[in-house]
Amino acid sequence: MFEALKPQPADKILALMQAFKDDPRADKIDLGVGVYKNADGVTPVMRAVKAAERQLWEEQSSKAYVGLAGDPAYSDAMISLILGDAVERDCVASVATPGGTGAVRQAFEMIRMANPAARVFVSNPTWPNHISILAYLGIEMVSYRYFDDETRGVDFGGMMADLEQVTKGDIVLLHGCCHNPTGANLNSVEWQAVIDLLNAKGALPMIDIAYQGFGDGLEADAIATRMVASGVPECLIAASCSKNFGIYRERAGLLMAVSSDKGARGLNQGTLAFLNRQNYSFPPDHGARVVTMILNDQALRADWAAELEEVRLSMLGLRQQLASELQALTGSDRFAFLAQHRGMFSRLGTTPELVEKMRADHGIYMVGDSRMNIAGLNAKTIPILAQAIVDVGV
Ligand code: LMR
Repeated sequence: MFEALKPQPADKILALMQAFKDDPRADKIDLGVGVYKNADGVTPVMRAVKAAERQLWEEQSSKAYVGLAGDPAYSDAMISLILGDAVERDCVASVATPGGTGAVRQAFEMIRMANPAARVFVSNPTWPNHISILAYLGIEMVSYRYFDDETRGVDFGGMMADLEQVTKGDIVLLHGCCHNPTGANLNSVEWQAVIDLLNAKGALPMIDIAYQGFGDGLEADAIATRMVASGVPECLIAASCSKNFGIYRERAGLLMAVSSDKGARGLNQGTLAFLNRQNYSFPPDHGARVVTMILNDQALRADWAAELEEVRLSMLGLRQQLASELQALTGSDRFAFLAQHRGMFSRLGTTPELVEKMRADHGIYMVGDSRMNIAGLNAKTIPILAQAIVDVGV
């Protein structure tokens, strides 16, 4: 049987991670996979996470199953973190999932169940795994213009023109904040225009929010998601705790199905629980429990928010330093967009050939579409990267 299998294409982000590991050069620089690193190149366990884990180790007396949707306290805490009071709690059905990817996968499965003819519109570019999972599930995908190669900002005119093609029942996948891979984001006037368009067309938004707190702050980064949740009859929201709690390997995510029709909640909740059961039964508990403990304890929450803010500000500082270094080297403002982008990533906006040249000649690893993980930089590597960008002729 196994001989019938065909080799699958490697995920380009994960393949890059391996290539970096295999590179013997001591001065190589990893700007690949989206993992936060501090100035020493370490991805630390956050203070509040350590404290909650310690407490959990002391207090937890059972590892018995929790429930197909995970602990309702986790859902409550996460819904309130992401949606605030934008919608009433009983409009939201939700399940814990293994990471944000688990939430994305379950959302796509729910879409396919509810409407096998639905097309999913994705930004060009988007996180490659969105495309890969949609293809795997056999869901039709349509891409809409998003990134303007000239300005390195959002091509909003192109985006709206392409979204004119959506029809009733289609899904439009949007990044709640900190667009991955570009770092370019909509402003709130633009978000409202998208919401109005989708409502006029009868299309349903799906938000992927994986970097809340990495862009303009915990509350500011949730504004667009809240506008969508309160501004449309139905939406799906896939959230990740991997980055903002730094618990990548614990796999904690949440999928929400929001409906302004409160009567729909029971059916939505049952469907989400069913999908969990079909795919892995019970979602992982450890990371979700740690998140719940942090969000529900005033001191832990304050410490977590403070550390997250340090992380956010350090990435903003790195963006500014890189932009000014390039300004000094080129005598132009053409890299000023790096300071305006938000989140972990920026798309440099260059060719795969120059990306490869930076890897070969300078040991600098970025994704082939020129996505850089800003958190992979530090004061020492910024001048090296800036010089390499100029040397290869970006
Ligand atoms: C990324 O985009 O680098 C992260 O979301 C990690 C991943 O799973 O691809």
